[in-house]
Amino acid sequence: MEVIVVDNYDKLSKKAFEIVKESIINKPNANLGLATGSTPLGLYKEMVKEFENSKTSYKNVKTFNLDEYIGLSQDNEQSYFKFMRNNLFDYIDIDFENTYIPFGTASNVENECVRYNTILEENIVDLQVLGIGVNGHIGFNEPGSLFYEGVHVVKLDERTRNDNARFFESKNQVPTSAITMGIKNILSCKKILLLASGKAKAKAIYEMIHGDILETMPASALRVHPNVVIIVDKEAASLL
Ligand code: GLP
Repeated sequence: MEVIVVDNYDKLSKKAFEIVKESIINKPNANLGLATGSTPLGLYKEMVKEFENSKTSYKNVKTFNLDEYIGLSQDNEQSYFKFMRNNLFDYIDIDFENTYIPFGTASNVENECVRYNTILEENIVDLQVLGIGVNGHIGFNEPGSLFYEGVHVVKLDERTRNDNARFFESKNQVPTSAITMGIKNILSCKKILLLASGKAKAKAIYEMIHGDILETMPASALRVHPNVVIIVDKEAASLL
């Protein structure tokens, strides 16, 4: 694991963008794995800003999102589908046909998991962007997730629902389950870029890097991957 410590969130976003841009310059038809949450927002702003100025093209890029809430339709403002449109896809030249996110309102969620898993098997992700939950979750792989699982349905941890309640009008609107790439899918990506900012993430970052590799700390699975870059600001790195 390569760990890069930067001064603040702005520098974290700029450094992350350098890595994303490099992968697209090297391979204009790269498969990019994308994440939601507040952490990658700065990266997405950098991508949009640079697209407007220099026109790095995303026309041939395909994107694959980590997860989606079950029960939220694509036009729900809190769905990850809408999040990606609002924060990135609407502002770059990506072809929407090339953007993949599980359907949160699929009539059969198990079939939807199989469908999304097949898409991931057919399109190896070149660079997967990840955030991390306070409890060490990646995507929506909560503590206790099996490291060998592919795309699956997950019941959300109360801690995660509390953390994500800030995006909703009230906590009881936060869905109780989600479809997520499994740790197995994440470990199949060629390169992983994990971003973390703020003191609340310091313990998870410490345990991911220095703790045991355990299913109770999902992010610790990344230690077996040969190509992981972690960018943390000083606060998230404060226990390292
Ligand atoms: C959500 C997402 C994760 C994300 C995490 C952290 O639960 N499913 O992919 O990494 O939140 O979010 P934030 O970056 O807002 O702290």
